[in-house]
Amino acid sequence: MCGIVGVIACRNVSKILIEGLSRLEYRGYDSSGIAINNEDGVYSHRAVGKVQALKDKFEAYPLDGKIGIAHTRWATHGKPTEANAHPHFSGDDLALVHNGIIENHEPLRRELKAKGYEFKSETDTEVIVHLIHDAMKSQPDLLKAVQASLAKLEGAFAIGVVQKDDNERFIAARKGSPLVVGVGIEENFVASDQLALLHVTDQFIFLEEGDVVELSRDQVTIYDAKGEPQERPISVFNHNIDATDKGEYRHYMMKEIYEQPKVIAACLDGRISETKVLTSCFGADSGFLKEVENIHIVACGTSYHAGMVAKYWIEDLAGLPCTVEVASEYRYRKVAVPKNTLFLTLSQSGETADTLAALRMAKELGYLTTLAICNVPSSTLVRESALTLLTNAGAEIGVASTKAFTTQLTALLITSIAIAVENGLSAEKEKELVQAMRSLPAYVDLALKEDAHIKNVADRFANKHNALFLGRGTMFPIALEGSLKLKEISYIHAEAYPAGELKHGPLALVDENMPIIALVPHNDMLDKLKSNLQEVAARGGELYVFADKDTDLHSEENIIFTEVPKVDSILEPIVHTIPLQLLSYHVAVVKGTDVDQPRNLAKSVTVE
Ligand code: F6R
Repeated sequence: MCGIVGVIACRNVSKILIEGLSRLEYRGYDSSGIAINNEDGVYSHRAVGKVQALKDKFEAYPLDGKIGIAHTRWATHGKPTEANAHPHFSGDDLALVHNGIIENHEPLRRELKAKGYEFKSETDTEVIVHLIHDAMKSQPDLLKAVQASLAKLEGAFAIGVVQKDDNERFIAARKGSPLVVGVGIEENFVASDQLALLHVTDQFIFLEEGDVVELSRDQVTIYDAKGEPQERPISVFNHNIDATDKGEYRHYMMKEIYEQPKVIAACLDGRISETKVLTSCFGADSGFLKEVENIHIVACGTSYHAGMVAKYWIEDLAGLPCTVEVASEYRYRKVAVPKNTLFLTLSQSGETADTLAALRMAKELGYLTTLAICNVPSSTLVRESALTLLTNAGAEIGVASTKAFTTQLTALLITSIAIAVENGLSAEKEKELVQAMRSLPAYVDLALKEDAHIKNVADRFANKHNALFLGRGTMFPIALEGSLKLKEISYIHAEAYPAGELKHGPLALVDENMPIIALVPHNDMLDKLKSNLQEVAARGGELYVFADKDTDLHSEENIIFTEVPKVDSILEPIVHTIPLQLLSYHVAVVKGTDVDQPRNLAKSVTVE
């Protein structure tokens, strides 16, 4: 999604802005731009495509100045063209960058046109800059004009705005889209996330909904939605700074796949003892575990798949009903909330617009409490939820989620066991599960050892146009996740089915051109799944089987076998995810796609 960087300093800010944009590239974008404010006025460069195209313009035509705003745009209103790229201007007086969507942009555009404003882009953003310009006719102070204009906007936004002739400050604001203030020495910053500013500061202030902030070189003044000045705490960034360094790896995605043993261990650390789940991990308020009678899980995309796995765990271990729903559906329907229902959101970013909207709606619906399982401690989701369990995966840069997903599953397993303990799970069973979890990092490491073999499998796979993923039980959501990964980064059309559904329709697709990826752990469903595979083999389908040795499956004509470590069945969904991540990665590399920033996708989906 769009990314914002803004700087005021005593030095030239163009390099800081460009580095900030490069650090935001992982969020997904299709054009970029920068406006620099100096004594002569506000000047900008904009470019379609990668930030490198913008850098090239800067090299050819340098812009110097001590105040600037910059933007990566992920197109929503209007194609990715230079005219639609931010910053947008009102005359030569004001320049503005925006992340989010202005829902009432059409009536505002009509009003502004009637007042004589000329629009140069198809974006919703351009109305904001003209609105501020118009407000300045009766209220010449930029801060007050911004406050008055924002009150007229419906939708979500984070903005940065600079004014010609004002070389002492710039203004930023947020409502519904993320924005963080970076605090420096005689220089201050804003950005869509902290990673964009780690090259210049590690001190951050998280803005609240509706905050407007005035940034000068030596001061950051924050006003809340009512216009009252507010003090907000400064936090020091404590993520591992090398998150933005690929190290020995060619792509962030591969680095993040290989980090999984370490980050899963970090997710378990302090949350389980030798024999128990430590409920203190839910904070002082873990009393909800005793009261909960139902669970509603709401999330999007990969996080939704993690939620689907948790449904199997919760219903199996705790015997409590659990429903799982995508946030974009949940937020627009009338929801019946049974007594004592836990509302559980899952999000790696904690900024997903649909998930946040679902949380805000749920808070009005009488749930027992709200719990967020999230990877970003400073995110809006964490700040707005009553309880949090952090996944501790560290910053994830690759757009296709890998370590954030397996740590979500780890955190969900901890949660499922904690709820189950209050609902009759024996101490003996708890100990057995916890001991299995303690071995998880080592098994994930073992699963990674198949990398070289999977690379060979990928060579065979890369010329395919379609793929069908099959699994049963907890392997069904993992099949969904595997097919999503393949789609996202290799652009191969892929679908996933519960294997038992095959004969109810999708079997019609199976012929020698349709690869079938089957997830076959050695568990209660093995014989049933083997029958499903026979149905495929009988129709000439090529089977890519991911199974442990005990299944007695192996490579033969039309079967390509990949070994997955044999683990306790509770761990199967996590361990089986690893080879599917590797498969998608290697297929994408063979196909030559942009692995870390696949086309049309964004890392943090901050618009609806
Ligand atoms: C896919 C992926 C997405 C996200 C989804 C929700 O690899 O990462 O499907 O899971 O956009 O994002 P979060 O988890 O940040 O709420």
